[in-house]
Amino acid sequence: METVAAIAAVRARVSEWHHSGQRVAFVPTMGNLHAGHVSLIEMARRYGDRFVASLFVNPMQFGPNEDFAHYPRTPREDERMLRDAGCDLMFMPEVAEMYPNGAERATRIEVPGLSEVLCGAYRPGHFQGVATVVAKLFAIVLPDVAIFGEKDYQQLTVIRRMVLELCLPVEIIGAPTVREPDGLAMSSRNRYLSAEERRVAPRIHQELTRAVGALSAGSRDFAAIGQEGRNALAQAGFQPDYFEVREGSNLDPAQPDTRHFVVLTAARLGKARLIDNLQLRL
Ligand code: PAJ
Repeated sequence: METVAAIAAVRARVSEWHHSGQRVAFVPTMGNLHAGHVSLIEMARRYGDRFVASLFVNPMQFGPNEDFAHYPRTPREDERMLRDAGCDLMFMPEVAEMYPNGAERATRIEVPGLSEVLCGAYRPGHFQGVATVVAKLFAIVLPDVAIFGEKDYQQLTVIRRMVLELCLPVEIIGAPTVREPDGLAMSSRNRYLSAEERRVAPRIHQELTRAVGALSAGSRDFAAIGQEGRNALAQAGFQPDYFEVREGSNLDPAQPDTRHFVVLTAARLGKARLIDNLQLRL
């Protein structure tokens, strides 16, 4: 595996691969890799001949009071994990390579509607930052296919919409959420949890499971399902931002005739803000 920091180096390598007829699969990350990220690389094997991962903590998607400065950075371990997973090229640019005129004044991509609901309501500008950096990474890597985790369901939905509406020639694949044995979704931010909080954290998955159980048992009282989830999490010591039943394809409020549900939640526990979701297809 080769590790490069320059856009030109990525372009040179990928263009060789494309010229020899190979398909390129791409996994963007912010590093501090865990088994969830590795599962995306493994998924990439099914879709491409060559694998590129990026490792870039994108300042544009962090709010002024969020954890950009403290986001865990473990590039040496990440490099080893990517090599072991069979990655061919790791792109690890500096901020100045991605935003030569500064992230603040850079050209931006806005996916309206989808970006303002759920997490977007609590993290203004977040999905604009995600859409912008992913569009730039696509323009640099020119992948045939890119893999994103369903763990960040709203992010995946925003990216699918952006790719469709900007006519970007990239196939987007969603990969299932990788969990700890007790159900907690793997996340770089789980390390912010104290031992006591870590013990409580799987409650998120339990409440999502309960909500999906209610839906599959026939309940269509979406407001009550949401309220119950928020109450249970608050009772357990979380500060829930939201717990909602939505339409899986576009994150609109669920309807009685919805066939693909997604229940999404975000809740703060100590210093961590945890997000998770579960889908149900009828
Ligand atoms: P990051 O949080 O590093 O996640 C990189 C990719 O790994 C995302 O597609 C995310 O959904 C996926 N992922 C994270 N935890 C997962 C888990 N437990 N199971 C399966 N997949 C998981 O998401 C980002 O970075 C950034 O917003 C990015 C897309 C790189 C743009 O900066």
